[in-house]
Amino acid sequence: MKILVTGGAGFIGGNFVHYMIHKYPEDEIVNLDLLTYAGNLETLKAVEDKPNYKFVKGDIADREFVFALFEREKFDVVINFAAESHVDRSIKNPGIFVQTNVMGTVVLLDAAKTYGVKRFHQVSTDEVYGDLPLDRPDLFFTESTPLHTSSPYSSSKASADLFVMAYHRTFGLPVTISRCSNNYGPYQFPEKLIPLIISRALDNEELPVYGKGENVRDWLHVEDHCAAIDLIVRNGRVGEVYNIGGHNERTNLEVVKTILHALGKPESLIRYVTDRPGHDMRYAIDPTKMETELGWKPKYVFDTGIQQTINWYLENKEWWEHIISGEYSQYFEKMYGDKL
Ligand code: NAD
Ligand code: DAU
Repeated sequence: MKILVTGGAGFIGGNFVHYMIHKYPEDEIVNLDLLTYAGNLETLKAVEDKPNYKFVKGDIADREFVFALFEREKFDVVINFAAESHVDRSIKNPGIFVQTNVMGTVVLLDAAKTYGVKRFHQVSTDEVYGDLPLDRPDLFFTESTPLHTSSPYSSSKASADLFVMAYHRTFGLPVTISRCSNNYGPYQFPEKLIPLIISRALDNEELPVYGKGENVRDWLHVEDHCAAIDLIVRNGRVGEVYNIGGHNERTNLEVVKTILHALGKPESLIRYVTDRPGHDMRYAIDPTKMETELGWKPKYVFDTGIQQTINWYLENKEWWEHIISGEYSQYFEKMYGDKL
């Protein structure tokens, strides 16, 4: 099989490339990535010389370029990870989220339709369902929960999902969509909560917690996410949505304190800052469909996964220090200057 992975220089796409290259040496992986601030080829060092792997730099929203690539490569499967992925950035600059997440997805869908790919898989998010109240722990997102978005990011992802479904119904394109909860694990860009807290705590810097830190996220180890996508692409039913999550709900404050405790750092590093506008309260996935239909089961619970992740950041300081010393060095001031 020849598989196009878009956004494979990012966090989840990068982990997925590693996963696939090792699990299926007979398959060919082409990684198309624009290398925005979030794309990092250092993540892919261990696979760059593998005979079944190729990197191509380009924009999923560049129609001419994408069509030429599909014409040349004749992909069997397309898995679209490429996106602008950070909610806070979408609040500062929504336009690029429409361009990449919506327009880029439509360009890929058109190319997939024109060149007859056998499966188009869209990597979506549980944020398309909006949020759940804190006082109703009995409620979970299922695949039939209505789309009800809060941020420019989640609105762009929901729009993309609607286009994916429209291409299935109108043109018969064989699509699947996965919607997963917050990922964590190796190679996550240190703008997201867990790597931000680990890297800043190690440098004894203050740790920004939005509002009261009571918002709840349902944490999924990236390796469990990769295994789930692999299952959906191989065995999932065309035209279906699959929710991915492992029942690992934690408040943000619990997550931050767990990390501080594991690193032996004081809670006095915590700094409560102005809340994110429109901040979703709670995400929680019901993964019954993945479990019963595809036999998926996560390997990690949060307590083991977070320890493995902390160890990875301790053992791979060079990877994140290169990021922090580059473009990202001005980022903290730019994003948090008016929150502090
Ligand atoms: P990321 O920001 O780490 O990586 C995104 C990658 O896409 C980067 O390598 C970037 O260079 C690339 N990219 C951006 N614009 C592009 C363009 N126009 N053309 C080609 N490449 C482009 O994101 P991530 O956290 O790995 O998320 C991957 C996907 O999973 C996204 O679609 C995101 O919406 C979804 N998702 C993420 C999470 C999470 O917790 N991180 C959870 C649910 C869903
Ligand atoms: O649920 C899936 C989504 O998870 C993905 O679709 C997004 O791509 C991904 O970025 C993530 O979105 P969140 O907004 O939940 O992730 P983030 O790491 O930005 O924030 C996690 C929680 O921590 C959220 O409640 C906001 C809070 N937070 C975040 C940062 C960066 C803080 O309190 N302080 C911070 O500095």
